[in-house]
Amino acid sequence: MRSKLFAANWKMAKDFSQSIEYCTKNKKQLDTLSHTSNAQLVICPSFPALFPIINLLQKTSIAIGAQTCSPYESGPFTGQVSAQSLKEVGCTFCIVGHSEQRAIGASDQIVAQQIKQLLSHQIEPIICIGEDHMVYEDGNTIPFLEAQLKAIEPALKSNIPLTIAYEPLWAIGTGNTPSVTALTTIFAWLSQKTNHRLIYGGSVSPENAATLSAIVHLDGFLIGSASLDFQNFEKIVSLAS
Ligand code: PGA
Repeated sequence: MRSKLFAANWKMAKDFSQSIEYCTKNKKQLDTLSHTSNAQLVICPSFPALFPIINLLQKTSIAIGAQTCSPYESGPFTGQVSAQSLKEVGCTFCIVGHSEQRAIGASDQIVAQQIKQLLSHQIEPIICIGEDHMVYEDGNTIPFLEAQLKAIEPALKSNIPLTIAYEPLWAIGTGNTPSVTALTTIFAWLSQKTNHRLIYGGSVSPENAATLSAIVHLDGFLIGSASLDFQNFEKIVSLAS
């Protein structure tokens, strides 16, 4: 059985010193948690904190991920960070296609190029897909996800490990989640489309982690606000692994 993955997406919520403080303070507990749960824990801080946190946690089994990367190999792309640089600092995961990135221009085509870059640098992409509330209400979630997956079809066919994170936009940061019945249908469908690891994101909390983790074909969570507090993150991992 594939180990579960719990990725903490810190977005821009923690600044540099808060990120370092969290990892310094909870280093031992994070390592213990990853061993006792037998789960892959991934922390995704913002860019400047990546390298110091990788050094801080290097003797632990915690992996570090970036929150996006450039779709290009190198060149005149002011403000972008290449997969090559992420590899050099020791990142082993990277989130791509998060709806907050899609909202500022990350098209399906860009996401496909980012995945290509990451895979060629042996970094596991955590690929976010998900629909807005209108699509969900209209019962069009599956055709919507189908189109998003179509754009990354070549990557899905590869044998290199990657993770698909189903994150409905209307569930992110709202306290709302799809019903267990809806998620069961969606994850059953996703598992027919791909053999890659499937996780869920959107308002995951200590209160709903046990219920959500019982959904078949769901192998972990992408956790935003609840991951900012170590106690909450620990509870989610313990309840859901
Ligand atoms: P949330 O965020 O857990 O705060 O809803 C999840 C995400 O955006 O990845």
